[in-house]
Amino acid sequence: MDTEFTQYQQLKQEVNYHNHRYHVLDTPVISDVEYDRMLATLRQMEAEHPGWVTPDSPTQRAGAAPADRFEKVRHPRPILSLANAFGAEDALAWYERIRKLDARVEQASFIVEPKIDGLSVVLHYRDGVFVQGATRGDGEVGEDITANLRTIRSIPLRIPVGGQAAQAGETFSGLPLFSTTSHKPGPTHQPPAYLVVRGEAFIPNREFEELNRRLEEAGEKTYLNPRNTAAGSLRQLDPSLTAQRPLTLLCYQIVYSEGGQVPTSQWEILEWLRGLGFPVTDVARRFESLEAAVTYTETWDQRRDELGYEADGMVIKLDDLSMAAELGFVGKDPRGAIAFKFPAREVTTRLNEIGVAVGRTGVLTPFALLEPVEIGGVVVERATLHNFDYIAEKDIRPGDRVLIKRAGEVIPYVIGPLEGARTGVEQVYVPPQYCPTCGQPVEHFEGEVAWYCVNAACPAQVIRNVEHFVSKGAMDINGLGIKIVEKLIETAAIKDVADLYSLSREDILLAVTRKDRKAKSDPPGKIAENLLAAIDQSRSQPLSRLITALGIHGVGEVMARDLAAHYPSLDNLAAASAEELQTIDGVGPNIATAIVDWFGRERNLAVLSKLKAAQVWPGQQITPGNDQPRPLDGLTFVVTGSLPTLSRDDVKEYIEAHGGKVTDSVSKKTSYLVLGENPGSKHTKALSLGVPVISEEQLRGLCQPTNP
Ligand code: IVH
Repeated sequence: MDTEFTQYQQLKQEVNYHNHRYHVLDTPVISDVEYDRMLATLRQMEAEHPGWVTPDSPTQRAGAAPADRFEKVRHPRPILSLANAFGAEDALAWYERIRKLDARVEQASFIVEPKIDGLSVVLHYRDGVFVQGATRGDGEVGEDITANLRTIRSIPLRIPVGGQAAQAGETFSGLPLFSTTSHKPGPTHQPPAYLVVRGEAFIPNREFEELNRRLEEAGEKTYLNPRNTAAGSLRQLDPSLTAQRPLTLLCYQIVYSEGGQVPTSQWEILEWLRGLGFPVTDVARRFESLEAAVTYTETWDQRRDELGYEADGMVIKLDDLSMAAELGFVGKDPRGAIAFKFPAREVTTRLNEIGVAVGRTGVLTPFALLEPVEIGGVVVERATLHNFDYIAEKDIRPGDRVLIKRAGEVIPYVIGPLEGARTGVEQVYVPPQYCPTCGQPVEHFEGEVAWYCVNAACPAQVIRNVEHFVSKGAMDINGLGIKIVEKLIETAAIKDVADLYSLSREDILLAVTRKDRKAKSDPPGKIAENLLAAIDQSRSQPLSRLITALGIHGVGEVMARDLAAHYPSLDNLAAASAEELQTIDGVGPNIATAIVDWFGRERNLAVLSKLKAAQVWPGQQITPGNDQPRPLDGLTFVVTGSLPTLSRDDVKEYIEAHGGKVTDSVSKKTSYLVLGENPGSKHTKALSLGVPVISEEQLRGLCQPTNP
């Protein structure tokens, strides 16, 4: 029995050791299967000897029975907060303030640590055993979330204590117990019999994305951000739910200790905690001057994504903790440390309204009209809502408080609503059934997410249509900017693209506002003449350009060239059947149908006959440059997520214009996956097939002409 008990204790220690290697050090030395087997044996032994079970047994992590409510815990010392600095100047002002109070600050060293955007937790160890864990609460009293914290694998359930064998240096089965770091608790710092440690609990970014991906696949509601999710997970009354969330933590402070010695500098504390088996950041650094500390801090603003978790800044701390303690605090903020905040990337604001824009192809795109809010130095009033499915999935409602993200090059987008902030009057959003611009019914196509306004006379579409018609890859009519186009439509000078060819000098003069005039040397008369000349010149554009200019759904520059090579004129193309069209390489059933549909619409036919009458009716010819090699020739692309600047249609056209092909699904034949924000499962597939993943910027790079 005795030997079995010893075996049991050894096994318990061994499991804890491997747990620490896996969850804290990230360097497991046994396989998951072996670990599970050890844990199973431990469970078996405990089932046979229930009296042996202690709170530090790894079997106790799984999650205890649900509680009715959380008990209150009074913290042994106040759990303090931090004052903020929003830049080097603020940091310097902080330094000046404390220097005036204590001249020793001039010689002081500073520690810089990441300011983890998680939840403060307070961990109690008695005789080396984790006995209680609490939330911060109001700083004086928190909530007892021991059972939940126990499920976090990186929290040690047992730490070495002074009286016991110096376990930190001890070896187990030939392996050092808490090793891989040279910072063991030194003999001068006997681990106290009662130790209270503070850390920040959080969900790492990758785990958060993975969690959301799984939820999305299961058709369940996704979480807003790692912080909210971590907070919700820790405050679950049912610990088995907490156990399912990928929480972890990093420790940085000793709140209280009794019966032992603890280090007196922050730098030593970090090393000491690490030596005891606590997870501790490895990006903390020590500096001999504030200047150096600030410089280091600022480098992390750009590199924050490398941390792997959300950090809202860095904390600059006086290394000498007795000096820091003597400086006292202001309210709840200790004078000895300051939070150097990064510009925010996520903020909340009110979603005043959901607007809907109509694109060239008639796609209705919802966008958020927001209570103006600053994110990272920019005032944001509008944000992307992606599409109507996204709004429905996230249940985003007008009037909601919403979380907005703006990071790097990404266009600001709505992450989702803060449902807890609802007042009850917010109504579920219903997408418009009629086009917000022209009032015609909208349509939905099988297999597509988007809703369309199919009325080609819709003014919103006409503007975009004209814009597209005159663009570089189409009829290339120089000088016809969006402002003039809007004016021309407003003054009824044009109702469709064909009307461009019957514009008079007066029409243009009327549309050219003073604002559009570049310089004095460009009087309205001159602008009008240039424009008329450019319009006239476009009559000689090749057929492929005109086909592109029509803006048929799915027909970009490359497809237009292929079509122009098959049909001598628009008359022939207009008469082609879907079956016939599909014999052309690259024309699938969707595009064939789109083409047939386009030529089947009365309004389009009217535009065509106007174009013909205006002698905008090119015959077949070889487009110059048709057989010139292009940068993306022979390459196949798949696009996922929303790109920083190019819409789905735009990126397709862009790739095709450079000789590439765009397909819907990732396969081994895919040359590149172009990745945007909020990618779908295509990303995972590409990774598993080893398909290279590139950004919009890298795609543009591929299209740059290479030097011969
Ligand atoms: S030190 C006296 N260090 O930031 C100690 N706090 O805005 C005061 N936090 O409530 C805290 N990472 O929850 C400290 N490395 C870090 C931190 C950190 C995150 C949190 C903590 C605190 C809040 C202050």
